Amino acid sequence: MRRILVTSALPYANGQIHLGHLVETIQTDIWVRFQKLKGHECLYFCADDTHGTPIMIRARQEGITPETLVERMHAEHLSDFNGFHIGFDNYYTTNSPENRLLSEEVYLKNREAGHIRVSTVRQAYCDHDGMFLPDRFIRGTCPACGAEDQYGDACEHCSGSHNPLDLKNPRCSLCGNPPVERESEHFFFRLTQFEAFLKEWIRSGALQPEMANKLDEWFTAGLQDWDISRDGPYFGFEIPDAPGKYFYVWLDAPIGYMASCWEWCKRHGRDFDAIWRRDDQMEVYHFIGKDILYFHTLFWPATLRGAGFRTPTAVFTHGFLTVNGQKMSKSRGTFITARRYLDLLNPEYLRYYYAAKLTARVDDLDLNLDDFILRVNSDLVGKVVNIASRSAGFIQKRFAGRLADRYPDDDGLHAQCVAAGEEIATFYEERDYSKAMRGIMILADAANRYVEAKAPWSLAKDPERTAELHDTCTVAINIFRILMIYLEPVLPQLAQRCREFLQVPPFTWESRLTPLSGQTIREFTHMMARVDPKKVEELVETIHPIPPAAPPQKATQSTPKTTRSPDPLPASTPPLEEPLDIETFSQVDLRVAKILAAEPVEGADKLLRLTLDLGELGQRTVFAGIRAAYPPETLPGRLTVLVANLKPRKMRFGLSEGMVLAAGPGGAELFLLSPDLGATPGMRIR
Ligand code: 2FM
Ligand code: ZN
Repeated sequence: MRRILVTSALPYANGQIHLGHLVETIQTDIWVRFQKLKGHECLYFCADDTHGTPIMIRARQEGITPETLVERMHAEHLSDFNGFHIGFDNYYTTNSPENRLLSEEVYLKNREAGHIRVSTVRQAYCDHDGMFLPDRFIRGTCPACGAEDQYGDACEHCSGSHNPLDLKNPRCSLCGNPPVERESEHFFFRLTQFEAFLKEWIRSGALQPEMANKLDEWFTAGLQDWDISRDGPYFGFEIPDAPGKYFYVWLDAPIGYMASCWEWCKRHGRDFDAIWRRDDQMEVYHFIGKDILYFHTLFWPATLRGAGFRTPTAVFTHGFLTVNGQKMSKSRGTFITARRYLDLLNPEYLRYYYAAKLTARVDDLDLNLDDFILRVNSDLVGKVVNIASRSAGFIQKRFAGRLADRYPDDDGLHAQCVAAGEEIATFYEERDYSKAMRGIMILADAANRYVEAKAPWSLAKDPERTAELHDTCTVAINIFRILMIYLEPVLPQLAQRCREFLQVPPFTWESRLTPLSGQTIREFTHMMARVDPKKVEELVETIHPIPPAAPPQKATQSTPKTTRSPDPLPASTPPLEEPLDIETFSQVDLRVAKILAAEPVEGADKLLRLTLDLGELGQRTVFAGIRAAYPPETLPGRLTVLVANLKPRKMRFGLSEGMVLAAGPGGAELFLLSPDLGATPGMRIR
């Protein structure tokens, strides 16, 4: 038996859980449930990330203490996660005594070992609010491009980053007064001392290849020491021997993984020190999003190492969620909270849809709502549940609920399903859930073909073929059972309904080997309803519709125009008279794409199906109307430009996930745009 400890990133306590968080918790939960099903010990820890200025300010605005705020949010978050069947072993909080003790220990041990230095830092300070201002709490004019009302650290216009002290006309975003400059002593963790250790840790296979490459870039750019302190007022833990100084939230947040584990150990009589201090052969994995890679793959292993704790076995990074091809957005109605989803739809639909799209890579995951309805209805309701619903009734009515006494000859179907379990298990283990789901659906197709061919509904009409009817339905129920074992990590509730229906104890991965026979099963009750498209529509009810960016009048679209459902403008809207402002334009995500394959599309003589490589962003399929201009064999290998955040469009031949750009009137006179030499797939065009 393996012993495994798993975490998901800790959600901030000042925001609601949304479908973006759930990509990660569902991904992690599936992996944990799979490991448990395989008979391993797998502990799953998480917590709320409670410290920092934004939480302090929000509590102040609500007129409550930060402690009251984080308690309320903790209850909300936990109930959201429970709603999605996330099976944490412990969901704790970073504002806990365990986390305080561990944070102090991590700091003090690092200090003793010479990994902390003190430096004086000049920072913006608001006299009115009596506090140093974090970068996000200062606004002013960008020193590079002159754009007004930009954050202290970065400009949304020119995408440049800057020092908040260089901002022109700076203002405190809380009170509007200009901040002053003040000096203060800060504590720095000497990350630079850990370069050799980190390189070694990465070589041990701790990261996906694309993330290891990212770290190489950071090493090349040069590591920097890390400021781990903040001046009060700050909601967090005070630093030992430094009154008025607090640990920066990112120091104590990952330590929250350990604190959650420790609190659980105390309640379960388990040895925390054995896991974290003595490294007793437990595997430790962190699931995270790509935006917090730096914290988890540089600071976190280094601070652990510096304090003499064990380091993670691996960090598994995933991409972001897009909804209908775009970043979640409140104005588009696609910022969907967990609660809103749960009020409308079955959580297992989303678990399945995410599973069907998740890979081991760091690609973004698109929740395309039309595809969501189709996929769930066709796979889960149409394929899987259908196998049982078409045969259970006969077992009930004709055989008093009893399966055939011996498992019948099934032309090798059961053996095929058992054998496929090896590969499906490997896909789960490697977090390649999309391949696992595909493998399971191939089996479901085979089972449905079997039922179709045997046609129990016809057998039932022939009194001489009763035994055959009994056998057919026994086979179908058994195949349904195996599929439900395979799907249990993704669909724990459906699996439980299935076990109740079959009257069997909890599944294990091995229980697939032995088919059921000669036992009584319960009456088949409705197991899963089809997705109601109206509810899905309600999910994205737009609160404040905004007009989409107008395309330049003469640009040639190589895929037909998409119709955006919440689009308030009729299709024939003339080009806007007003010039496009830079914000609107910068919403268009243009990327360098490499054409991997180009194939003619049967039944569409103008189109080519392009498979595009977007580097770290993965691959896309796009249908482009360029067949008259480009023989397909001339395209593979060349670079072009893709509009990457266009809503995917369902076409007769498949889903088109973006649009490549071409110039010219059309037909044979079309010219694909290409970047200059040196550009690589996935690069953002700005
Ligand atoms: O980015 C975030 O949402 C952080 N709250 C994640 C923290 S993960 C861990 F390090 F605590
Ligand atoms: Zn102020």
